[in-house]
Amino acid sequence: MDDELIRPAVKGIPEYIPGKTPKEPGVVKLASNENPFGPSPKALEAIAKEAKNLQIYPDQKSLLLREALAKKLNVSGDCIICGNGSDDIMQILGSTYLNPGDEVIVSKNTFSLYELVTRIFDGKLVLVNLKDNELDLAGFATAITPKTKMIFLTNPNNPTGTVFSAAEFDALMKKVPDNALVVVDEAYIEFAERKDLPDTIKYVKEGRNVVALRTFSKFYGLAGLRIGYGIAKAELIKPMFRTKMPFNVNRLAQAGAIAALDDKEFTEKTYKNNVEGKKYLYAELDKLGLEYKKTEANFIFINLKKSADECFITMMKQGVIIRPLTSFGFSQAIRVSVGTKEQNEKFISALLKL
Ligand SMILES: Cc1ncc(COP(=O)(O)O)c(C=O)c1O
Repeated sequence: MDDELIRPAVKGIPEYIPGKTPKEPGVVKLASNENPFGPSPKALEAIAKEAKNLQIYPDQKSLLLREALAKKLNVSGDCIICGNGSDDIMQILGSTYLNPGDEVIVSKNTFSLYELVTRIFDGKLVLVNLKDNELDLAGFATAITPKTKMIFLTNPNNPTGTVFSAAEFDALMKKVPDNALVVVDEAYIEFAERKDLPDTIKYVKEGRNVVALRTFSKFYGLAGLRIGYGIAKAELIKPMFRTKMPFNVNRLAQAGAIAALDDKEFTEKTYKNNVEGKKYLYAELDKLGLEYKKTEANFIFINLKKSADECFITMMKQGVIIRPLTSFGFSQAIRVSVGTKEQNEKFISALLKL
C-alpha cells in the first residue's frame, strides 16, 4: 500500500552506503578520506565561541563565510552559495535546474551522489565509461545531445584519485552547448600536486555555465560539521537561494569554516602529510607488486585482483577499515585514505598479512 505513495522516480533508489565508522578504540579508519589530524584547531575555537549564540537562527545566506571565501578565491560573494556539505549543493542544483527527462551525463564507477540527484529529480541518466580507470572527457563530449542539461565531473575523481587536465577540460567545454551546466566537483582539489589542472573559477568569471563544488569536509577536517560551497556566475547562484532550505548552514558551520580558511598551520601540515604519505604508500605498494593509480587526492585506489569485500573483513579484524569498492562497481579494488605516518604503516602491515 505505502509503496503507492512513493514517487516512481524514487522507488528503485538504493540507500547510500557510507564508509564504516569504528566503535572500538584503536581502530584506524581509512575509509572515508577524512583528515587524519582531526578538525582544524582554529575552527574548534571559533565553534566553541559561536556555541553561545545557538538560540539564534543562523544567517540564511552565510554572508560572512561567503565574503571570506570570495576574498580567498578572488570572486564576488554573489558567485558563492554555501550548503550543508557540498552534497547539499548538488541537491540544490537538482531542485533549481533539473526537469524530469533532462539528460544528465555522469561517469560510471564514480561518486554516487550525481546519480542519486539525477534520479531524485527524474532526470535521464547518461553514463560514460571510465577509460583506464580515469574520467574520459572525450567520452563525455560524445555523450552530449540537445537534451543535455547537466554534466557532472569530479576532479580529482573519487575513487580513482585521477585528474583531468586544463587542456582536456577546455576541449570538452568547446563542445558544451550554452544551455547545459557543467558541475565540477572539486572536493579534493586542495590535495592536488599537479599544476596543469583546469582553473574552473576562470570559466565562472568568463560567464560560462560552470559550477565548481568544494567542501570543508576533507582538507579542513570538518566532515562532521557539514559545510560545502558552490562557485558559479551570479545569475546561476541567485535562483539557487530560492530552492535551498532557508537555514541549511548552521551557525557553528559558518563560524568554523571562516576560521578554518585561515588556519594556515593546519592546512600546511595536512598537505605535507598527504604528499609524504603518498610517497610512502607508493613505495610499499611497489614492493608488494600491487597495481594502483597515482593519486592527486588524499586516497589511493588499489586493484587487489581479489575480493574487495573479503579484504575489507580481513583488514577490519586487524583494526584497519578501508573502503571496498564493490558499491562503486569494482569488486576487486579498494580505496584507502592517506592517514598519519603511523596509520599508513598499520595499513601496510595489515595488507602484508593479507
Ligand atoms: C567526490 C566527492 N564529492 C563530494 C563529497 C561530499 O562532500 P561533503 O561532505 O561536502 O558533502 C565527497 C565525499 O566523500 C566526495 O568524495
